Amino acid sequence: MRKRDRPTEHSDGENVSSSSRMQRKTTVCQEKKRLASKFWFWVKSGAFALCAIFIMMPILEELPEIIRQRVYYHRIRAPFVFDLSHPAELALNHTINMYLEPEEGISLGIWHTVPDDKWKEAQGKDSAWYHRSLKDGSPVIIYLHGRTQTRAAKHRIGVVNVLSSIGCHVLSVDYRGFGDSTGKPTEEVLTKDAVWLHRWAKEHSGGSRVLIWGHSLGSGVATNTAVRLMEQGVLVDAVILESYFSCFD
Ligand SMILES: *[C@@H]1O[C@H](CO)[C@@H](O)[C@H](O)[C@H]1NC(C)=O
Repeated sequence: MRKRDRPTEHSDGENVSSSSRMQRKTTVCQEKKRLASKFWFWVKSGAFALCAIFIMMPILEELPEIIRQRVYYHRIRAPFVFDLSHPAELALNHTINMYLEPEEGISLGIWHTVPDDKWKEAQGKDSAWYHRSLKDGSPVIIYLHGRTQTRAAKHRIGVVNVLSSIGCHVLSVDYRGFGDSTGKPTEEVLTKDAVWLHRWAKEHSGGSRVLIWGHSLGSGVATNTAVRLMEQGVLVDAVILESYFSCFD
């Protein structure tokens, strides 16, 4: 039994050692395969990332513009049918359209509506008459609208009519990039322009009260403006916020 056993043991030992060699070979082979597949994984990932960057490039370049569009919606300029330079056609018969330049190369489209009780007198009057009327002692309201469309939007005309009916002048402004105003909207320039417009209104209204009315996005501009003016030592006569926001989602 032993004699027969030994070769068996021996051959078993041989078998074991050859199978372990085989196993080692297989392991080395597997390791090579694993490394190769890892290598190709990274090559593929790298190529994919390069492709993705290449495809994303134009989008990334456009990103600030996309964000701006998400915040301000200034490209939505309905109603398109109306000419912003003819406010009388929009039921604002005591309103003149003007363009002011807060800085070189930037033009802001603004409507100046006089108090309601002057509507008859206002018929056929030119910009000089409107300009003079700003000094009549009635309060002047700078109307900073919300984030879509233009100063011609129906609900904005409604607000202007109400403010005019209670005896105020209204300066209804389209921010940079909105309506027929040039430039691009950013938080900084919107504030800068409103601060500039407040100073302009103070200078041209002969010391009348100048109030800032901000609706929605405009409420942010209004508060920014009031803070900026306070920092400059100017106290705003009033800030009125309509459906203001405390944060943007
Ligand atoms: C002109 O506007 C005023 C003020 O909104 C209004 O009372 C008046 O009826 C309008 N007149 C005409 C002819 O549309």
